[in-house]
This record gives sequence, structure tokens and C-alpha cells, in this order.
Amino acid sequence: AHQWRGVIREYADRLPVTEATKVITLGEGGTPLVHAQKLSELTGSEVYLKVEGMNPTGSFKDRGMTMAMTAAVEAGAKAVVCASTGNTSASAAAYATAAGLKCAVLVPEGKISMGKLSQAIAHGATLLQVDGNFDNCLDIARKLGESYPVFLVNSVNPARIQGQKTGAFEVVDSLGDAPDIHVLPVGNAGNISAYWKGYKEYSAPFETPNGTLAAVSTKTPAMWGFQAAGAAPFVAGHPITEPDTIATAIRIGNPASWETAVAARDESGGLIEAVTDEEILAAHRWLSSKEGVFVEPGSAAGVAGLIKKHAAGEVPSGNKIVITVTGHGLKDPQWALRTEDGSDVQPVKVPNDVVTVAAELGLEEK
Ligand code: F0G
Repeated sequence: AHQWRGVIREYADRLPVTEATKVITLGEGGTPLVHAQKLSELTGSEVYLKVEGMNPTGSFKDRGMTMAMTAAVEAGAKAVVCASTGNTSASAAAYATAAGLKCAVLVPEGKISMGKLSQAIAHGATLLQVDGNFDNCLDIARKLGESYPVFLVNSVNPARIQGQKTGAFEVVDSLGDAPDIHVLPVGNAGNISAYWKGYKEYSAPFETPNGTLAAVSTKTPAMWGFQAAGAAPFVAGHPITEPDTIATAIRIGNPASWETAVAARDESGGLIEAVTDEEILAAHRWLSSKEGVFVEPGSAAGVAGLIKKHAAGEVPSGNKIVITVTGHGLKDPQWALRTEDGSDVQPVKVPNDVVTVAAELGLEEK
């Protein structure tokens, strides 16, 4: 049986690596493309979820981090640094450990989930909580990368985008062609840029040393990005100085990949719009209670967007739609316990007794 070997080895011919490259991998990629039954029924389209929470550290960041850490080792780096809303820092910490490098991560104080914080600590990174937001952290990380002996592994490093484009390759390889619409959450805007790059590459003839191969896909999808309403610079058309949302993963006001994200939107005939925190939490509940897929709140922004566009009559039926759900629900599980009216679910307590338990479950003896 074939064992998945991580995105660099699976897509080596499409990535800037050579036979001599020492690959740093934890076996990322090869994530499930799950048919979303209820979203398909709702929209009259065939809707799939690309479940990126199934990556080694629980988010899509691992696809880019295998490339960034491989590049860091190739460059002879001894230490790496990143700014993060949590997932990049978890991934950087794990891959730095695999590479034998030191890792420093800068996170906005009080604004990253406990799960993500724990991962960075567990993997031995030096974690500094900055008195500022993600955009401030990224400014510092960039300056450290320029003026100090540390290698920057944020998505401003092109190796990250190269790795993350493999998400699009996997979608096409699974469906046999590109979908009509690809939906995803947008924060720092690396992922929408990376998917668009991947879709474009797969739809073009491909030069190899042994000749030119035919395009893999016949088309490219419209890219639909969704931001949290309190952190929606693409919707505003300018950076936001005080971004705010419960979806801390995408609490970003000044996205680094601005131009490439706008290009992805416009070249693909797509859109970038906003969804409220309430819509995000409703989509989060939809995924867990109707589809059986548990994601973190930020990851539900794409689903929230699709539901919103459908309600507005703006989703054509009969299409193939893929939504990337970017991170695992266990990263930030507290939201699952929150009910629609804002109170917290209290698990029912019962005595150690089968008759009472059966009664509590509404069961009658057979
Ligand atoms: N979803 C999750 C779960 C994320 O962690 C992020 C970004 C995004 C979506 C948005 O992706 O930035 O490529 O537009 N998280 C980064 C981090 C910023 O530091 O972990 P993007």
C-alpha cells in the first residue's frame, strides 16, 4: 500500500527542490476532501470540505512550513522566527524541532487560543507575547529576519506559498478537475494567494526536462474569500488599525499578501467579502452538528460566507464547490460549548446507576 510521503515528496516536480534537498517533513498534506451532505442539499451544488485540520499540527500551515523549514536548513540557518495568531507558531515550533533548529514565535498577548499556545510551548519554541496585535508582531518578525541572524518563516517567505499551493493540486487530483468555486477564510492572505497559484499552475501545460506535459485541469475556479467583519481590510479597501473578531486566527488588519490576494480575486472572477462573528459561530455549529466536521471558529468563515451568499440568492446551483476548512476544532474547543443564546452547555450529571441513566436517555426497557 502507498504511504503518503508529505507534500514535498508527493509534488517534488512542482516545487523548487532538487534530489539533493534535505526534506524536513512530518507527513503533511493528503488531507480528506469530504462531501458535505447538508451544505450540498442547502445550495443545490456539490459541496466538499478540504479538511486541513487533519495535518500533523492541526492546520494548513504545515504545507508551507515543510517548505520553509527545508529552505531554512538549506540556507544554513540556526534559528527561525515567525509572528502568528497561533497556527503558524504551532507549525513552526513542530517543524523546527524536526529540523533541529531553534524557534522563536511572536504572538499577540491574550489573543491566541490555549491549544495553539500549548503546541508552541510543547515543541520547545521560545514564545513571546507581544503587547500589540498580529500586524505589530509581523513588523517585528520581519525586522528580526532582516537585521538579526534568524530565518523568517512567515508567508512573506515565498517557500511558504510554494508549499501551500499543493492544497489546490490535491483538490484537482481528487475531483479530476478544478471546482467551479473555491471558498476559504482570509487573514494574512497567504492561503488564497497560494491556492490561486496552484490552480493556475495545474491549468497550464507543464515543462519538464523530458518534454511538455498537458495541463492537469481544464479550468480554474472563482476564488471566494471571507474575512471576519471586524477584521476585513479587503472589504474596506485599506488596512484596519484595530482588527477585532472572536475568530482570533484571522484577527489581522494589514495582510502581508495584499496584491497577490487581490490578483487571485480579480483574475479568477471571484470576491472577498465579510461575515460577522455570529455568522461564523453559526457556521461552526453547522459543521459540527450537521456535517460531523469539527473546526476552529476562523476556519468556519468560508462556510459562513457560502451560507450567507446562498441566502442572498447569489450561489448558482449545479456547481462543484470546495471550501477549505483550515484548522482543527480542538485548537480552540471552548466555542463548541457555547449555545446560540450565549450560555455555556453544562453536561448533565447522573448517579452510577443504569436505571437512572436509561431514564435520563429516555429509554424504556425492551
Ligand atoms: N484559518 C486559520 C485557522 C488560520 O490560522 C489562518 C491564518 C487563516 C485561516 C487565514 O489564512 O493568513 O493565509 O489568509 N493564520 C495565521 C497564523 C495568520 O499566524 O497562524 P491566511
